[in-house]
Amino acid sequence: MEPHSTQRRARACKDCHQDPKVLGLGFGKITLREGRLLFEPLEAPFGETKIRLSQIVDPQGNTLVKFNRPNMRGFNRGELERVLKVGLCLNCHPPEHKIFLEWKGDFLCPQYPFLRSLFFSR
Ligand code: HEC
Ligand code: HEC
Repeated sequence: MEPHSTQRRARACKDCHQDPKVLGLGFGKITLREGRLLFEPLEAPFGETKIRLSQIVDPQGNTLVKFNRPNMRGFNRGELERVLKVGLCLNCHPPEHKIFLEWKGDFLCPQYPFLRSLFFSR
C-alpha cells in the first residue's frame, strides 16, 4: 500500500484534462453541446447552501471556499477553459501527438472546425 499521494508515475493527461473533480468543479459530467462545454454537477448542494462539498470553484472560475494559505485559489475561468479544451482533443489525439507539443491556444481541428467555439456554461 502507498499511503502518500505522491508516487513515481505521473498522472495521465486525461486525469487532469478531463476530470472536473481534479479541476475543482466537483463530481459531475462535462459534455460538449453545440460548441459549448457544459458542466453538470452530480452531487446535491450541502444543506441550505449552494455549495457542493466536492467543489471549490464554479464554471465561471469563482473560488467558493477559503484556503488556509495566502494567495491560494482555484482555477479561474480562462484556466479551466484552456485545460478542458486540451481534454477534448485527447479524446481522439494520443498524448504524444505533435499538436500537444506545438500547442497554441487558438488551434483548430481541420476535421472538426466547430471545436473553435468552445464556451463554458452551466
Ligand atoms: C497534474 C495535472 C495535469 C496533467 C497530468 C497534465 N496536464 Fe496539461 N495542463 C495542466 C494545467 C493546470 C495546465 C495550465 C492551464 C493554464 O493555466 O493555462 C495545462 C496546460 C496544458 C497545455 C497548454 C494549454 C494552453 O492553452 O495553454 C497543453 C497542450 C497540455 N497541458 C497538454 C497535456 C498533455 C498532452 C498531458 C499528458 C502528456 C498533460 N497536459 C498532462 C494540468 C495537467
Ligand atoms: C472526434 C475526434 C477528434 C477530436 C475531438 C479532435 N480531433 Fe483533431 N483530428 C481528428 C482526425 C480524425 C484528424 C485527421 C487525422 C490526423 O491527422 O490525425 C485530425 C487532425 C487534426 C490536426 C491536423 C494534424 C496534422 O498532422 O496535420 C490538428 C492540428 C488537429 N486535429 C487539432 C485538434 C485540436 C486542437 C483538437 C481539440 C480542440 C482536436 N484536434 C480534436 C479527430 C479529432
